[in-house]
Amino acid sequence: MNPAEEVCELAALPEGKPLAVFPRGLPVLLVRRGNEVFALENRCPHMGCPLAAGALEGYILQCPCHDWRFDIRDGKFLNAAEIKARVYAVEISGGKVRVRI
Ligand code: FES
Repeated sequence: MNPAEEVCELAALPEGKPLAVFPRGLPVLLVRRGNEVFALENRCPHMGCPLAAGALEGYILQCPCHDWRFDIRDGKFLNAAEIKARVYAVEISGGKVRVRI
């Protein structure tokens, strides 16, 4: 299994506002909800728009390009659960956020 990549300080991650990061050059977005952090591929499965620029409401992130909506907890597209944005496991320790790529 690959080691987790450190992407940011937890304190630097704003609540409820997607943040784009690039562990090993990959486009990933982070969303903090309280003490939890979720990580998804920052590329919409529809046509590749950056999901970090989308609107977040609760656990639902809406793509800025054609309004597809995804659950940040599992990446599922709300209208068809078989379509998913890729999600990554997140580890938080020592005030650092790490993503398992
Ligand atoms: S690229 Fe995201 S909905 Fe079309």
